[in-house]
Amino acid sequence: MSNRTFTMIKPDATNKGYTGAILDQIIKAGFTVKAMKWTKLTEEQAGLFYDIHRARPFFQELVDFMISGPIVAAILEKENAVADFRTLIGATNPAQAEEGTIRKLYAASIGENAVHGSDSDENAAIEGDFFFSKLERF
Ligand code: CMP
Repeated sequence: MSNRTFTMIKPDATNKGYTGAILDQIIKAGFTVKAMKWTKLTEEQAGLFYDIHRARPFFQELVDFMISGPIVAAILEKENAVADFRTLIGATNPAQAEEGTIRKLYAASIGENAVHGSDSDENAAIEGDFFFSKLERF
């Protein structure tokens, strides 16, 4: 069980002004920020980040969405970080997300779902390394 996960606040949420409220909810849930970056992905970067979904029918839609505005990338620390963060954000489809979860509160659809959360310890490490050098995490 690792104590770190990776998240992105996605362009739908940053464009609607939800960044502060989402970060507040994450920190109040007990996560500590170990690295954080406000940036805008290029099409190539978004494609590489979601490379695992390249064959899916929604891939281009996902890439176009992910480059439609700025994102916040962060590495978060907490005991049982990956599982607890996925509980905090709720189901991928906000229509199926529990009341009070970040996606229930701030997401509009399965594609535009406000936040990303790593699905395993291995992917948390890979995704954190995608955005942050050793000098950028504390
Ligand atoms: P995320 O958890 O970031 O990981 C993969 C993303 O693909 C997911 O959130 C959604 O934003 C997106 N996604 C998954 N399923 C669909 C779908 N059926 N249609 C559009 N986008 C999807």
